[in-house]
Amino acid sequence: MMIGRLTQRASCALRIEARRCKSTAPLTSTQLPNLKRGDYSSLTDADVQHFERLLGAGGVLRDETDIAPYNTDWMSWYRGRSRCVLLPRTVEEVSAVMKHCFDRRLAVVPQSGNTGLVGASVPVFDEIVVSMRRLNKRFDFDPIPGILQCDAGLVLEELDTRLGEFGYMMPLDLGAKGSCLIGGNVATGAGGVRLLRYGSLHAHVLALEVVLPDKDGTVLECGPALRKDNTGFHESHLFIGSEGQLGLITQVAMTAVPKPNSVQVAMLGCDSFLDCCKVLGDAKRLLGEILSSFEMMDSETMRCLKENHGRHNVLSTPAAFNLLIETSGSSQEHDQAKLNKFLESCLEKGLAVDGVLATSVEQANTFWALRENATLALMDDGYVFKHDISLPLKHYYRLTEAVRERVGSLAKRVITYGHVGDGNTHLNVTASEFSQELYDRLYPFVYEWTTQHGGSISAEHGVGLLKKRYMPLGKSPAHLAQYGRLKRFYDPRLILNPYKMLTM
Ligand code: FAD
Ligand code: MLT
Ligand code: ZN
Repeated sequence: MMIGRLTQRASCALRIEARRCKSTAPLTSTQLPNLKRGDYSSLTDADVQHFERLLGAGGVLRDETDIAPYNTDWMSWYRGRSRCVLLPRTVEEVSAVMKHCFDRRLAVVPQSGNTGLVGASVPVFDEIVVSMRRLNKRFDFDPIPGILQCDAGLVLEELDTRLGEFGYMMPLDLGAKGSCLIGGNVATGAGGVRLLRYGSLHAHVLALEVVLPDKDGTVLECGPALRKDNTGFHESHLFIGSEGQLGLITQVAMTAVPKPNSVQVAMLGCDSFLDCCKVLGDAKRLLGEILSSFEMMDSETMRCLKENHGRHNVLSTPAAFNLLIETSGSSQEHDQAKLNKFLESCLEKGLAVDGVLATSVEQANTFWALRENATLALMDDGYVFKHDISLPLKHYYRLTEAVRERVGSLAKRVITYGHVGDGNTHLNVTASEFSQELYDRLYPFVYEWTTQHGGSISAEHGVGLLKKRYMPLGKSPAHLAQYGRLKRFYDPRLILNPYKMLTM
């Protein structure tokens, strides 16, 4: 029953890099013919020479093959036609770049790991890509208060590993950890599989350094790196989830969390979604403070993992839902006893039809690999209509059922997995290729249904280009107008990440 100290989980990083080079996505401008290029300047040789002087020759990519991965999103839904990628190494370089882009009215897309799932990190037309990957030198950690200060271009998994040397870890964990960068995480307001326990990035970000797209390329220090500071407006929070609309995040100060001594992982099978909810209620009550993840995969997800990836369920009794539960605590004996008791109780009450505890780190990684590879496995079907929705639990799986009925045989699969402990469902509808008929069955139905049932059209992935049309759902005109005013305040020439999220 004992799995010891679980330090690392399998990462999707290698597969992600491989996909990024293979893109055959159609040009976004062809897919969206009504979307017109804004009134921006076009890049000239003089601009390129200026950038080369600022960043050195290695800081400016111009070769089409080198640029291709920066033009295409991870899902291969979108493809821009940028002719220039900039790779600054310091905040001064970012500032000088933004000052020039402001002067010349050149449109810019900030990009980190390019693992975003809403088409927000790639150009639509010929915007310049400012990649943050080389801004990755500073790593300062003070282990007594547990405060990390680092450059925005550090990879999430690398941060987690480096913090491990101090007995700490990142409060954030997600399947793309081997490729995404902390600045990209903050700009997206990413959630992931530890949010249930540690809260969102709003609970952890203390301060940000941000470069504004204004005439000076202003470097803004948003807040001191202190746990408590109650002076002024807490502007750093505005940049969490701002999707590159307001400024470029160059440094992050945030709290890390102590690495648990004991990590236990269990998989449970439930026959109904109502039983999943009851198990969640019991997990909160019986596991209490040690509960750290509560993830769900429905039977369609398990079938897809088996058919497309040859990954087998770890439960021997087939169930309508698999629940992946993780606890993190300081005492193995205590945590194991609690999880065992909880599992027994679920089986005795008939809430679970099967249950298994990981008995080694390898087994725990196998359990997690099922959940973390769901995203990749379903892509082998061909085309994916992906969703990231927040719903009250009483409606959570009803959306999947409604969509299944609505799309019928038009879809190859209707799959749902997600962070059920946070009310976050990832409903995915697959087909062998993009189908307009399927699209029309899904939209606006999915997003209107979500709003009508008290949900949000994005729990963690953001809005980007994918959901821009539906951004007004559930928001008042006054609220949207306020977003527009804020955008213009930070980005007066509207050069930052145009065509996404906001209608200006
Ligand atoms: P990018 O994709 O490069 O950029 C994302 C957005 O931020 C874009 O709008 C971009 O313009 C902007 N941006 C990037 N860097 C900066 C910066 N320094 N300053 C200002 N703006 C910037 N997401 C979750 O929330 N939870 C999950 O569990 C999860 N799992 C995933 C699993 C897989 C396999 C994959 C492929 C993705 C997953 N994602 C998940 C989505 C994605 O990984 C996250 O949203 C991640 O935070 C994006 O980080 P990135 O570095 O790749 O940013
Ligand atoms: C996840 O939780 O696996 C991610 O958010 C990615 C996805 O939705 O596929
Ligand atoms: Zn997710």
